[in-house]
Amino acid sequence: MTSPVWHPFTQHALSGPPQLVRSGQGAWLETEKGRLLDAISSWWVITHGHRHPKIVEAIKTQADALDQVIFAGFTHPPAEDLARGLIEIAPKGLRHVFYSDSGSTSVEVALKMALGFWRNKNINRTRIIALEHAYHGDTVGTMSAGARGVFNAAYNPLLFDVVRLPFPHDRSCATLAMLDEAAKGAAALIVEPLILGAGGMLTYPAEILAKMKTLCERHGTLFIADEVMTGFGRTGTLFACEQAGITPDILCLAKGLSGGSLPLAATLCTAEIFDAHYSTDRSRTFFHSSSFTANPIACAAGVANLKIWREEQVGARIAALGRLQEERLGFFRTDARFENVRRMGTITAMELKVPDPGYLAGLGPELTAFFHDRGILLRPLGNTIYVMPPYCVTGAELDRIYAAIAQAAGKFA
Ligand SMILES: Cc1ncc(COP(=O)(O)O)c(C=O)c1O
Repeated sequence: MTSPVWHPFTQHALSGPPQLVRSGQGAWLETEKGRLLDAISSWWVITHGHRHPKIVEAIKTQADALDQVIFAGFTHPPAEDLARGLIEIAPKGLRHVFYSDSGSTSVEVALKMALGFWRNKNINRTRIIALEHAYHGDTVGTMSAGARGVFNAAYNPLLFDVVRLPFPHDRSCATLAMLDEAAKGAAALIVEPLILGAGGMLTYPAEILAKMKTLCERHGTLFIADEVMTGFGRTGTLFACEQAGITPDILCLAKGLSGGSLPLAATLCTAEIFDAHYSTDRSRTFFHSSSFTANPIACAAGVANLKIWREEQVGARIAALGRLQEERLGFFRTDARFENVRRMGTITAMELKVPDPGYLAGLGPELTAFFHDRGILLRPLGNTIYVMPPYCVTGAELDRIYAAIAQAAGKFA
């Protein structure tokens, strides 16, 4: 019988049946066809490796105590502990934690917090500013903030307009000059700090990030950092904002928050934003919820994740991974079949030079299948091949990944 399951971002008419995955351990997945080296951390979520024992243990223990409870009017120890822990490690000045369950919802919450803030202050600021090539999720609000293209063309009638800043390709003053104008009277700027993920692993310097924050401050515009992908070490620091020395007004976290083990997200904000909603007038309430807000088992996984960061010198591990990654890029930097070979912390990316790199050209799925056949889980974005492994990956495992990438050039470039 054909499966009734409809898979995400999958054209079922073109792709073969999905691979059945039976288990995962460290940087590896066990599939029906054999072992797969997880070079994209299972869509950028797994940080310490699959089934880290401390996270597995925390999940089991919590499942034995409390599985789920309504979070309006109730709370529980994992949610309280995780929120306190997050405030401790987040950029200084963030005071409140609002839970949700995916990266998209953490961003929806951020946008709603920003709009609610201005409305509750009786100030008419509703415009959102976002970057060219941005990706913030697949819900209506996050698609609106994200770049427009083939991914959301059908849903365009639902999307709201935003002011779009050019991507800062060249320490670009154009981006900053436009922001300086656009920020006047705007509600918020939302950015992916240091590296735009789904937009093509595009990197920009911390200095630009810092300047964008300064401009927002100058105009009183809220600054939203979407660290759904960058959070929890990907860029070489716990949070990307640290490299620019900034504290956003609102910070979105998901993916690595539970070490990637369970769906969990958090939107952190300043006291000012919380206080704008704090009132005896019920109409000023922050009107957002989802059934699984702060699910206790997911929060327990989050608490275990923070414990791992405290106890296991993850900082040193990601620094070492960055070095291992850098060493392997040397070959690709001198190979004319690749361009824009780059690294941001633990993430590397490069473009394979091909005649038709467009998303619909089908190169991405062909490359993906090529890598799967060689036991490597990579999922290029068109001709952009990136490697975002869990932090437990070894040098020898990275060698296998890059050997497969070099082979791909032989076939496709
Ligand atoms: C920067 C960024 N924001 C938001 C999202 C959406 O997260 P989710 O897929 O968990 O909804 C993603 C997902 O890749 C992302 O990279």
